[in-house]
Amino acid sequence: MRVRTTFPAHSLPHGEIVSSLERMRHADADWRGGRVPLYVFGALPEIEEIGREAYLAFFSENALGARRAFRSLARMEEEVADMALDLFHAPPGATAAMTSGGTESILLAVKAGRDFARTRSERPLAHGNLVLPETAHPAFDKAALLMDLEVRRVAVANDLRADTGAMAAAIDHETVLLAGSVPCFPYGCIDPIADLSELALSCSIWLHVDACVGGYLAPFACDIGYPIPEFDFALPGVTSLSADLHKFGFCPKPASTILFRDTRRADAARFDLDVWPSGRFRTSTFVGTRPGGAVAAAWAVLNFLGRDGYRDLARRLLVMRDAYIAGIEAIPGMRVFGRPELTILAFGSAAVDMAAVARAMEARGWVPGLVRKPPGLHMMASLLHEPVRNRYLEDLAAAVAAAPPVNAPEVSAVY
Ligand SMILES: Cc1ncc(COP(=O)(O)O)c(C=O)c1O
Repeated sequence: MRVRTTFPAHSLPHGEIVSSLERMRHADADWRGGRVPLYVFGALPEIEEIGREAYLAFFSENALGARRAFRSLARMEEEVADMALDLFHAPPGATAAMTSGGTESILLAVKAGRDFARTRSERPLAHGNLVLPETAHPAFDKAALLMDLEVRRVAVANDLRADTGAMAAAIDHETVLLAGSVPCFPYGCIDPIADLSELALSCSIWLHVDACVGGYLAPFACDIGYPIPEFDFALPGVTSLSADLHKFGFCPKPASTILFRDTRRADAARFDLDVWPSGRFRTSTFVGTRPGGAVAAAWAVLNFLGRDGYRDLARRLLVMRDAYIAGIEAIPGMRVFGRPELTILAFGSAAVDMAAVARAMEARGWVPGLVRKPPGLHMMASLLHEPVRNRYLEDLAAAVAAAPPVNAPEVSAVY
């Protein structure tokens, strides 16, 4: 059992602290070497560098005080929000804010959807529910847990995308929000947002597009000719959209954007308290103190890359993705699940025990990403995974060849 650490009695020398940090890091998986299939999103050293420089320049500032004390951060945050509104074809009157990540962006969308439904309904909302494809991220369940809402997860269609008809059947007068993903985490495919938009309009229900993974990649993939279906505010039924800067925006963590179609809906997400002895407390995020560095770094990275830079990255990423797909499908029995549009891939073989394949990959030094329905491996690939592709595919082929035939133990990861 781990012995509990005591509070340090004395100061440790600077050098000792730094060397301890380095020593502890030796226990980590080699993510820079492409061994970790999620959590980190590497692109080019110069992007990391500009992000780090901007982050460190605003290391101590607090974005909570952006309006009153740190005008620089207020300006940068406003410009990042404007860039997101522009990228996602938001109509005049739409608003956006930076948050700490996909989870917070989704929490805000659900809160706004619920509060908006409370004002909309002549019949008071008794409980409220969310209608989601089964592939929607657990952040929606976190939101539901906090807000005491029911979650209705609806089975996806055979192509692993949201089944709009089945979602329509799950809606009732208590439904406060529908959602679709761009792409979904488990399979990497994009839900039919245009159909969900029509459904949302037809029953006047809030539609949240979870573009946390694909928000800063899909528009650029589309620009260079990849067939990305429409998913943003160009579709009239889209009410809110989340897009994470700290994933394929390649900005330092924590950074996401949440966008609302109009001010009234954005206001429903806002926290505004006026009973406190210290005065009025108003935030457009759940968290209070926020790292100024993340705001400055997002501003810096977006400006550093611009549309051209993101298009170049999209091209490299999708060429790499296609090479991974070809390599995986060249392994006898292996197939990629569904038709992933961006760089999340899930794959497996119905003939072999994928849990054994995962264990063999782990033994070869890879942190295996997993999916369990059907059993398979998973990766959310960034350019960290470009140089190690051949090595990964060789190890995968060897692991599959050595794996016993399937006897269907579940493979599952704890994220
Ligand atoms: C589709 C999707 N939505 C939301 C999230 C949550 O994002 P975060 O981990 O930044 O809170 C993730 C995380 O991977 C995701 O894949």
